[in-house]
Amino acid sequence: PVTPAGELMADYHAAWLPWEAFSAIGSRRSAIHGEGLLADTVRREVEDACARFGGATGADEDAELVLALYSWSALPAAAEKLRNSVAEDPGDEGFVLARQDGVTVLLAGGPAGLLYGFFHLVRLGEAAFGADHPPRTHRPVMRRRMLDHWDNVAVHDVMGQVERGYAGGSIFWSDGALTKDPARVRAYGRLLAASGANAVSVNNVNVHAVEARLLTDRLDDVASVADELRPYGIGVYLSVNFASPIMLGGLPSADPLDPAVQDWWARTTARVHRRIPDFGGYVVKADSEGQAGPFAYGRSHAEGANMLAAALAPYGGVVYWRAFVYNHRQDWRDRSTDRARAAYDHFAPLDGQFADAVILQVKYGPIDFQPREPVSPVLAAMPNTRLAVEVQVTQEYTGQQRHVCYLAPLWREVLGFRPWGASGATVADVAAGTGPGGSPGGGGGGLVAVSNVGDDRFWTGHPLAQANLYAFGRLAWDPSLDPSAILDEWIDLTFTRGADGVPDQLRHTLHAIMDDSWRTYEHYTAPLGVGFMVNPGDHYGPSIDGYEYTQWGTYHFADRNGIGVDRTQATGTGFTAQYPHPWSSTYESPHDCPDELLIFFHHVPYTHILHTGATVIQHIYDTHFAATQRVHEIRSQWQKIHNVGLVDSDLHARVAERLNEQARSAEEWRDQINSYFLRKSGISDALGRRIY
Ligand code: GCU
Repeated sequence: PVTPAGELMADYHAAWLPWEAFSAIGSRRSAIHGEGLLADTVRREVEDACARFGGATGADEDAELVLALYSWSALPAAAEKLRNSVAEDPGDEGFVLARQDGVTVLLAGGPAGLLYGFFHLVRLGEAAFGADHPPRTHRPVMRRRMLDHWDNVAVHDVMGQVERGYAGGSIFWSDGALTKDPARVRAYGRLLAASGANAVSVNNVNVHAVEARLLTDRLDDVASVADELRPYGIGVYLSVNFASPIMLGGLPSADPLDPAVQDWWARTTARVHRRIPDFGGYVVKADSEGQAGPFAYGRSHAEGANMLAAALAPYGGVVYWRAFVYNHRQDWRDRSTDRARAAYDHFAPLDGQFADAVILQVKYGPIDFQPREPVSPVLAAMPNTRLAVEVQVTQEYTGQQRHVCYLAPLWREVLGFRPWGASGATVADVAAGTGPGGSPGGGGGGLVAVSNVGDDRFWTGHPLAQANLYAFGRLAWDPSLDPSAILDEWIDLTFTRGADGVPDQLRHTLHAIMDDSWRTYEHYTAPLGVGFMVNPGDHYGPSIDGYEYTQWGTYHFADRNGIGVDRTQATGTGFTAQYPHPWSSTYESPHDCPDELLIFFHHVPYTHILHTGATVIQHIYDTHFAATQRVHEIRSQWQKIHNVGLVDSDLHARVAERLNEQARSAEEWRDQINSYFLRKSGISDALGRRIY
């Protein structure tokens, strides 16, 4: 039985699904035609909304809204008319929406399409019942839209329960066991479905001893999570340890070419599928930051991934194999080893060797989820491999949900990037499987993100970070959406007052705070794409030389003459050659290289002149002063919202508390960066501002 939707949101914030968002549908007469679990979910949602707002379901004759499967045999007249006018079934997850003769009709290709269509109507609100309009087809650009949870079952000594989690404990696991609040898991699935996402992996990619057992003797726990998420169309995946045959199976080896190892995976995977028939597959971090992998046996990553693919393929499962493989025991004195090169050097030569059931999951940048990186060249180097793009919704390097940092503009830039130049395909095309970037088994690898959700009352710690989770689902569904329009959708849903909508002042303030918040963050932290400069370990706050002499391969090489990493072919690590034309030459030249990536690619003097006309050192001062000033401004804008009572006081207080910390932290960044570079360069601020 499906839990009534209204009961799902009792103890925590409703996020983008408050009751008010259902008033347009709930106050009308609807007819629903479809069967299956997801159709039942939709029926239940509409019934709940009607119970609240006075509408009714089950009325064919005088229905104002018809939701039906395209293939349904006995459609009401309005829907029959629409079916006759559209050429083709919109596909499993797709739907056609029209308004004709005062009736809103939605025809879905499958039960999942009904679900996504329903939430589309929720987003439209009253607008779904406005003027007549011709049929419009909606279907996801990416078939795979997944959130990875870096959740541990047990609390880990160093990382806490959720690795890089900033919103409390896990919603799936507590006290070393399955959560006692399954309704919360259901509610999460509901929020994800309403954003467009359709899959989660339920445990950390660093798979520790307890979590490894989710695959075997603790499989029932995973099945319980899957049961909660299934009514909202969310598939479940598991992160597995490559050494599982040793850890769990008592075998002497995990060699992917060893028949006993292959057999263990085949049997284990068969059992998983018997218990969870719609199980999605595995996520694997192998030979990365100390995790086990095929290298120990002299095998390639294709051999490792293909072994798991062979175990999963009979059931339609896939393995997301992460490309985050690099040497984390580097010597900073060795300038020829470049972490940025690593994923390409490891994986590009394997193009064409991966089985259809393998998806290579590639972080969007070559280093590690920095606020600014060039797009990973791996995404343009493997035309015969299914590639997924991985981003972080969790704000590990973007303020840890203490800072406002709306990430849709960053993701939009990545997805819209054209590695082969202006007339070539985009990164979104590659991930969707419609550009180069193979789709041998149908469909690309899609978009994957590390989730920012925890058991916090606001889900994401910082209430405004909910917008990032929402935007992730929306961009995975349609990567061409405008970040500012997505923000409006989120504002409309989250802060609606029913038919009255959202007060203008609130909308304007949220845009003022959020639209440019990623750039603002970029401007008070590490300059010009060089990255890091964060405290080692927790990655929060400034520590300019924190990583400079460590083994991790994330250096800025600042000295008295200049700053930046020479990644050119001419004199540096040669990383620029990993890009196709024209980017290889654009990045190779310090004069053509975009300012925001200049010192990612080049070591330049502080007096180097940017395209803006400013010197590098003056740019550092200017951006750090201005961005910190900006944080103070948004803090006072948020205060004004409170003074006129436009948002709930607990939400207001939470954001206000976080803005105080953001302002403190931005000042710390400004002062540390400016002082450091004043001392290194010996060049004072042209405007004579105070630098310590
Ligand atoms: C980052 C992060 C780690 C994480 C890793 C990964 O390095 O700090 O906590 O395990 O990424 O993506 O695997």
